[in-house]
Amino acid sequence: MALQFCGVGFSPIRYRGGLGARAVASESNATALRGAEEEKVKLGGSEVKVTKLGIGAWSWGDTAYWNDFEWDDRKLKAARAAFNASIDSGITFFDTAEVYGAGVMGAVNSETLLGRFIKERQQKESVEVAVATKFAALPWRFGRGSVLSALRNSLSRLGLSSVDLYQLHWPGIWGNEGYIDGLGDAVEQGLVKAVGVSNYSEKRLRDAYNQLKKRGIPLASNQVNYSLIYRLPEENGVKAACDELGITLIAYSPIAQGALTGKYTPENPPTGPRGRIYTPEFLAKLQPLLNRIKEIGQNYGKTQTQVVLNWLICQGNVVPIPGAKNAEQATEFAGALGWQLTDQEIEELRSVASETKPVIGFPVEKL
Ligand SMILES: NC(=O)c1ccc[n+]([C@@H]2O[C@H](COP(=O)([O-])OP(=O)(O)OC[C@H]3O[C@@H](n4cnc5c(N)ncnc54)[C@H](OP(=O)(O)O)[C@@H]3O)[C@@H](O)[C@H]2O)c1
Repeated sequence: MALQFCGVGFSPIRYRGGLGARAVASESNATALRGAEEEKVKLGGSEVKVTKLGIGAWSWGDTAYWNDFEWDDRKLKAARAAFNASIDSGITFFDTAEVYGAGVMGAVNSETLLGRFIKERQQKESVEVAVATKFAALPWRFGRGSVLSALRNSLSRLGLSSVDLYQLHWPGIWGNEGYIDGLGDAVEQGLVKAVGVSNYSEKRLRDAYNQLKKRGIPLASNQVNYSLIYRLPEENGVKAACDELGITLIAYSPIAQGALTGKYTPENPPTGPRGRIYTPEFLAKLQPLLNRIKEIGQNYGKTQTQVVLNWLICQGNVVPIPGAKNAEQATEFAGALGWQLTDQEIEELRSVASETKPVIGFPVEKL
């Protein structure tokens, strides 16, 4: 039995209540469930349908970038609660990767954790979860066979016989045609329902799309860094190519790793590697934008996080996958769905955001 959603109609009304900033976290779960379920979207030309917003699982088990280089039971419980709160809020799409939480002392593989959380939940009730994971195009991996063998290892960690979306995490230095062939083989062998790429430029995207098309397989998605303060996909042709070819743009780091939530200030910057990107100077320049996001959100009874996620969804053909470390964060994300900013607000936010110089991106986008 799949998770049951109430059959009452849901309409994405423009919500203008005067509720406090945290109001959405307490919004009726039933409404959120209905909204998320009914607003499912297809990933590109594939048959896979996912919620309009997914949850990123990079931080789960990771000790290389997140979690102050330490993973412990408390963080594990919080990650499990994030997973369960997502499901409770109707968000059933999860993004992980073979490299998340891998190869570092004290880390736990994110795929292993996601697989465990799914299994634990399935023991209580049947839930429909869409899982996306990724192949790491490491320089010593050659040919289509390497994609299939990495995928089999991912499936084994996840405890699944197939995944909904398998993505090339970044373009390889070489061997890219072989990797694309490997994606096609994975579809034909029934190991994945849809395939995508990540950090692909417009040219690479078009090449990958055409190569798969020859086999009758749609390239479903391109996962790239995209947020209000990192709008490279709008400028480098990637967003336009995704729209033209019917490829879903999956937006990673959609809340700029917490910088767009209003939680971090020049006096209270993030710790760890993020602190080197979102410096006090950068956060000071961000304040006018954050203030405007807050004001707009107050008109809808929405938090800053929900406004910036809604801004991405309003671009059309974009599925943001914010990372949630705990239940509160995951629940808050669900409140980004079921309403929409006006066209005027969308353009105003883009214009205010363009006053801020973007942070440095992931260099693989330029490969
Ligand atoms: N394909 C790629 O190359 C690539 C690259 C990066 C990410 N990704 C994917 O995209 C996902 C999301 O990106 P991301 O994790 O880099 O960044 P993000 O989603 O923009 O930010 C996530 C972080 O923001 C903070 N946060 C989350 N919800 C919050 C809330 N409601 N209020 C305040 N702070 C909140 C949390 O950290 P704190 O609580 O510690 O502040 C959380 O870890 C990843 O998990 C991964 O699946 C893919």
